[in-house]
Amino acid sequence: MEPHFDLTIRHARIVTDDTIVEGDVGIRGGRIAAIGPDLPPGARDIDAAGRWVLPGGIDSHCHVEQLSGMGVMGADDFYSATVSAAFGGTTTIIPFAAQHRGTAVPDIVRDYAERARAKAVIDYGFHLILANPDDRTMTRDLPEAIRGGISSLKVYMTYDSMRLDDYQLLDVLDLAREHGALVMVHAENNDIIKWLAKRLIERGHTAPKFHAVAHDPLAEAEATNRAITLSRLVDTPILIVHVAGGSTVEVIRSAQNLGARVLAESCPQYLFLTAEDLDRAGLEGAKYCCSPPPRDAGSQDAVWQGFMDGTLMTYSSDHAPYRFDETGKLPKGDQTTFKEMANGVPGLELRMPLLFSEGVLKGRIDIHQFVKLTASNHADLYGLAPGKGRISIGADADLAIWNPDRETRITYENLHDQVGYTPYEGRVIKGWPEIVVSRGRVIVEDGQLHAARGSGQYLPRQAPRFAWPLRRPGDSRHQAGPFAKALAGAKDD
Ligand code: URP
Ligand code: ZN
Ligand code: ZN
Repeated sequence: MEPHFDLTIRHARIVTDDTIVEGDVGIRGGRIAAIGPDLPPGARDIDAAGRWVLPGGIDSHCHVEQLSGMGVMGADDFYSATVSAAFGGTTTIIPFAAQHRGTAVPDIVRDYAERARAKAVIDYGFHLILANPDDRTMTRDLPEAIRGGISSLKVYMTYDSMRLDDYQLLDVLDLAREHGALVMVHAENNDIIKWLAKRLIERGHTAPKFHAVAHDPLAEAEATNRAITLSRLVDTPILIVHVAGGSTVEVIRSAQNLGARVLAESCPQYLFLTAEDLDRAGLEGAKYCCSPPPRDAGSQDAVWQGFMDGTLMTYSSDHAPYRFDETGKLPKGDQTTFKEMANGVPGLELRMPLLFSEGVLKGRIDIHQFVKLTASNHADLYGLAPGKGRISIGADADLAIWNPDRETRITYENLHDQVGYTPYEGRVIKGWPEIVVSRGRVIVEDGQLHAARGSGQYLPRQAPRFAWPLRRPGDSRHQAGPFAKALAGAKDD
């Protein structure tokens, strides 16, 4: 008799949307075909007694084989990045196709698509980074990219080579509303940072720790407030990426309480690192320089609180892998100042294990919050549901079998990226995704990869989906203002 399933995972603790099912998962044709007790055998059966079966993670913010705003190429290509993600329980990534000034969106998208197609071992989509909102981009190329499945874009309020001014941001937000795209915002006040950095460097304060001084929390909170203000003006939802500061969490929560359509993300570096990490011997602190920078214990608590109460909805790595040498962090060797260091930290592989250990097993978040923060909210917000992000019948069989008891001492030697170090070296964490399944294929098992280069699939994405208001029904006092109404063609009240 033909086996009923291609793969049956048995005796597991399976986390579906809001329930926990003790039983089996049956997988056929790359999809989840059944969930329940005592399912018929598969061509292969895996005994998962004592293990959790969770959705494969979606990492919706990572920089892969991408030139930074400073013109530095990251250390990971689409192969090493996706292998590294897979070993950490992530089965889908949404990196960026990055436009720089003077480049055209269709060329950029084609280039990233070709490179990813040849190398990725897990599924992937793209956001666009928009740095050149000229006429052609805005009237033709961007709408075309959105229609083609790149339904979200990131804009920068800082970095001279990438930033858009408020006028340009309004144009982008207006266009995003019209075409149903989600705008992700890197919110830091460019002038504050430049002004502080200039004075610090002039006074000889060049060490990595001054990166955190120049990127003051006020620069982040101010820009976040301004981005929210612009989004309210034209009634377009935004998503604030990599929230670092406690004051920024507060700005976002207050705006959400007023009914503003603002979503927000944070990352491991804001839960597990602080500005003190930038103050390590020599230039070692450069390994912890990202923007915004990690802050203090109070901000760590605020980010945890934001995840617990739903102010922050996605937990991503912001993997931005720069080696600790002249190709990345140290372009001028030991003479490199904090202004010249590539910004970014690696995190694709450890994103989920860190949160599982320190969030779930330490009782800060429950397992359903973990699933939302690492997978299902990403699928909803970025137009990948219902195929991705959940263990449910008909969805892609993307899942990870976690051993909640396994203790790991983190060391770079055991990771799979090309960065050469991890900011989390030496930490001991509990819980690890020992078997990882992507569209029904067992791609990681016994510490080995079983996926060919280029076997990941491109995911064109639909318009993002979110249920407003974020808070209790009736709590929303947000009204579209007169400009937003006029832009939408509404009649005067
Ligand atoms: O420092 C960071 N976060 N580098 C990556 C680029 C970005 O702004 O997300
Ligand atoms: Zn950013
Ligand atoms: Zn980033």
